[in-house]
Amino acid sequence: MILETKRLTIRPIQIGDKNEVFEYRSDKATNQYQGWIPETLSDVETFIEDVSEQMNEPETWFQFVVIEKETQKIIGDLGVHFLGSENRQAEIGFTLSKNFQHKGYATEAVKRVIDYLFKALGKHRIITSIDPANKNAVRLVERIGFRKEAHFVESLLINGQWVDDLIYAMIEKDWENLNRPF
Ligand SMILES: CC(C)(COP(=O)(O)OP(=O)(O)OC[C@H]1O[C@@H](n2cnc3c(N)ncnc32)[C@H](O)[C@@H]1OP(=O)(O)O)[C@@H](O)C(=O)NCCC(=O)NCCS
Repeated sequence: MILETKRLTIRPIQIGDKNEVFEYRSDKATNQYQGWIPETLSDVETFIEDVSEQMNEPETWFQFVVIEKETQKIIGDLGVHFLGSENRQAEIGFTLSKNFQHKGYATEAVKRVIDYLFKALGKHRIITSIDPANKNAVRLVERIGFRKEAHFVESLLINGQWVDDLIYAMIEKDWENLNRPF
């Protein structure tokens, strides 16, 4: 499954991506709000081996990488967690290399993936979980049109610290009504 936007190609992660993924995922400062920060290349290998090979399998994560068309470089990744027995809901997570942030790439990639989830896979609801201190991620999902549905206080233990968790969501009707091209 390959998804295209004007500036990006979004394709399933492969084992050969490990060096490029390690480069930006191991950046502790940029990824301070992430639950997973690889210490070694073999951590990334295990991560890639553990994600589902099949798209849309209930209770699994499927992982895409995001490639800048102009340079053919992997600039980030986007995960989709297929949820629930009916499999009509999904959770998404997104990461961009520091060097490729603030260019609108995350907005472009996330919009393309949620359009695919709603229109091609028939999902009903998409959620994402964000630390309220992660201002760039909050701006990203609000810009796209996600609705803030919950603010849990110190509900997650991340990197040894209890942190708050915002749940943002969008239902299929919201996406249709937004009617924004990507
Ligand atoms: C969350 C994250 C992906 C957001 O990345 P981002 O670069 O802020 O988001 P975008 O790529 O959509 O860029 C949007 C910004 O680019 C600007 N921009 C510049 N050129 C642009 C263009 N051609 N088109 C659109 N926007 C453009 C926008 O104005 C916007 O600026 P603003 O944030 O000051 O409002 C990024 O911060 C990240 O990877 N963080 C680390 C991992 C992480 O915490 N992930 C979230 C876990 S929940």
